[in-house]
Amino acid sequence: MSSPTLVRWTAEDLVGRLDEVLAVYAAAMDYPPDLVSARRGFITAHARRAGFRAVGALDEQGAVLGFGYGYLSHSGQWWHDQVRGAIRRGDRRRWLSDAYELVELHVTPTAQGHGLGTRLLRGLLDGAPGRVVLLSTPEVPDERSRAWRLYRSHGFVDVVRQMRFPGDDRPFAILGRSLPLSTA
Ligand SMILES: CC(C)(COP(=O)(O)OP(=O)(O)OC[C@H]1O[C@@H](n2cnc3c(N)ncnc32)[C@H](O)[C@@H]1OP(=O)(O)O)[C@@H](O)C(=O)NCCC(=O)NCCS
Repeated sequence: MSSPTLVRWTAEDLVGRLDEVLAVYAAAMDYPPDLVSARRGFITAHARRAGFRAVGALDEQGAVLGFGYGYLSHSGQWWHDQVRGAIRRGDRRRWLSDAYELVELHVTPTAQGHGLGTRLLRGLLDGAPGRVVLLSTPEVPDERSRAWRLYRSHGFVDVVRQMRFPGDDRPFAILGRSLPLSTA
């Protein structure tokens, strides 16, 4: 099988492929389809935010194997305000002024573990706006997951651990690092 192609997507590209994108998201996170379907409106709204960038990974037939997107994080946005409340006061400026939020990064299960997530992460963050990048990821025992390995190997450090978002029982970690990615 030849190597998947990485493509930069405009907001219109992402929204135009939303069914495929949501199918990858549901499979990667093992979420029920109706829960993922509820994300449709959010993603469409996210695509209009300042600093929006998206990447997709396509197989030979052009089918979506993975995707990632993010935008500039600003106060008034739900995630930003939740995270702000959880970060120690003295650390807020460091992490929240001029921050790029990596919102979603997913690879369909059959394509995982072959470097695609790494390519998507680098492609998305290469040239991304912002002084730092922030993301949230579910806590897993001993940080044993592909997502955790990926972020740790790219220099992401703890910003908040064991964070609870309203309406979600699972604890999340907020991880971050400086931008650009090429300088440690
Ligand atoms: C996280 C995700 C996007 C990574 O994509 P991927 O294509 O699997 O990533 P890669 O193949 O580039 O591998 C990433 C890291 O996981 C490691 N890895 C590969 N297979 C692994 C396995 N079975 N167990 C643990 N780590 C593994 C890789 O070695 C790499 O780490 P390294 O850079 O230290 O070597 C993808 O696995 C995914 O969609 N997971 C489910 C959804 C998810 O958790 N998304 C992120 C939510 S914030």
